[in-house]
Amino acid sequence: MCGIVCGISKRNVLPILTEGLSRLEYRGYDSAGLAYSSKKSVTVVKNQGRVADLVNKVSLKGIETNQAIAHTRWATHGVPSEKNAHPQFSKNKIYVVHNGIIENHNNLRDNLISEGYKFISATDTETIAHLVHFFMEKGLDFESASLKAISKLQGTYALGIMDKDVPDLIIGARNQSPLVIGQGYDENFLASDIMALAPVTNKFKFMEDGQICFLEKEQVQVVNSNGLKAKLKTQEIDSHSYSNDLGGYNHFMEKEIFEQPKAIENSLEGRLGKNETQEGIFGAGFEAAVKDVANIQIIACGTSFHAARIFEYWSHKFLGINCRVDYGSEYKYQEPVKSKNTLLVTISQSGETADTLSSLKFAKKTGDPLTLTICNVANSSLCRESDFTLLTNAGPEIGVASTKAFVTQLACLNLLLLTLMREHKKLPSARKKITSALKDLPKHVGATLKKLDAYQATAKLLFKRNSALFLGRGLYFPIAREGALKLKEISYIHAEAYPAGELKHGPLALIDKDMPVIALVPDNEHLDKIQSNIEEVAARKGKVITIGPLGRTKIAKEGGHIKIPKTLDLLNPIICVVPLQLISYYTALLKGTDVDKPRNLAKSVTVE
Ligand code: G6P
Repeated sequence: MCGIVCGISKRNVLPILTEGLSRLEYRGYDSAGLAYSSKKSVTVVKNQGRVADLVNKVSLKGIETNQAIAHTRWATHGVPSEKNAHPQFSKNKIYVVHNGIIENHNNLRDNLISEGYKFISATDTETIAHLVHFFMEKGLDFESASLKAISKLQGTYALGIMDKDVPDLIIGARNQSPLVIGQGYDENFLASDIMALAPVTNKFKFMEDGQICFLEKEQVQVVNSNGLKAKLKTQEIDSHSYSNDLGGYNHFMEKEIFEQPKAIENSLEGRLGKNETQEGIFGAGFEAAVKDVANIQIIACGTSFHAARIFEYWSHKFLGINCRVDYGSEYKYQEPVKSKNTLLVTISQSGETADTLSSLKFAKKTGDPLTLTICNVANSSLCRESDFTLLTNAGPEIGVASTKAFVTQLACLNLLLLTLMREHKKLPSARKKITSALKDLPKHVGATLKKLDAYQATAKLLFKRNSALFLGRGLYFPIAREGALKLKEISYIHAEAYPAGELKHGPLALIDKDMPVIALVPDNEHLDKIQSNIEEVAARKGKVITIGPLGRTKIAKEGGHIKIPKTLDLLNPIICVVPLQLISYYTALLKGTDVDKPRNLAKSVTVE
């Protein structure tokens, strides 16, 4: 989703900002732009399309500027176009980049039009530029006019604002959309994501909701919404871990799929003892806090939601604790019935997904006191809003389609399961077995990554089809959903996942010789039933590809079979997702789609 990078320095910031924009591309965007000041004037360069085109559009070579604001836009208000790209500006004086949505922009726009302002874009952001200008016309200076304008905004925003006539100052503001200050020597930066600034600094201040900052070369001041000075800790973060290097792979998605064994190892490192999880891995006091937990509520979106659905099964089977899973975008509308002793868990790769974040805030307000987040990004909004955090330690995930984030979320959810089992004195011998099997998970995932021929052959079956059906039962149903999500995200093939037992209640009508069906076949009590489902499809000439830990001979009539390593039943679905990721990846390659940046999608969805 939209990305911001702004900088003010004694040196030329243009190369830093254009590099920053490229490093933000992974978030998903449809246009890009920047405004730089030079010789008392400000130049705006905007472009619909890629950052590389923006840089090529006008040769930025030879241009030197000490101050600029830049943006990648993912359209919300107004189509993707050069006009709607940011920076938006007012009277060639005030320039604004913005992430988020200004909910009262229609009212503000009407008032500004009646004051004589002309709008050239369809964006809510242009309102902010005119509003700052309007208050300056009323006699306020740039700082006061910006504070006043920001106080009129309702909605979510991360902002970077510049005034042509006030060199050496960039104003930033944050409300429910991430914004971080990067500090250097005689230079300061502002970005929506530390990824953008990793090459230039390792010192960061994470702004909080309602805060406004004044960025100058030598100093940064931060104030709260009441205008009083705020103190923000400077945090040193190892910027090397924010590498955006493909490392010899063709796509980030491919790289991230192959990083999965190591990523799982990193998730587990230092967290497992001989037979149990280590104490304190969720933060001091977690064990005592969860002793009386009688309900678990999980909130997540997208791929993270599928990880949550797997934990739901684990919780019922191994803890006997009721677990409910809701989409971040739906939780509030369910008018959730609050139960005592609830552990509220959010799961998120980015830690910034607006729907998950607003649901967490809502849950806290309406009486869920104990909150945990399982998240890949330290210092993200979800981490800061939660009592306890378990970082997945997957390393940055750049490909829009989530892969290593998913398997590491499941590894971490398994740590949660084991910890709750211990604190609730459940099944000590099962705990031992699960702990040991979890340690072997990287090895099994590694072995699964070797069967590329089988995945490529399946991709050849899929890439000319319009639809595909994924079937699973029990724990494998959320994996089937994740497989269908991967396929539609990056290959644009319509894919649906169904609990295999539901086939006869509707989707069987879709089956003919052109419908590929991927059936996940477990080695558990569901085997016979899914065998019958496979036969139901085969009898209607559907092409079935089966995936599971059993050998080919043990599976009913099928088109092709992919055998995965066998481990404990509760962990096998984690291995099973790997073939699905690679089948989608190879299908997308055959279709020639933009694997890492699929159309219309964003990596980090920071609007509701
Ligand atoms: C977007 C991404 C998905 C991700 C979802 C939830 O839709 O494209 O890959 O699963 O957001 O994101 P989160 O960061 O909260 O896990």
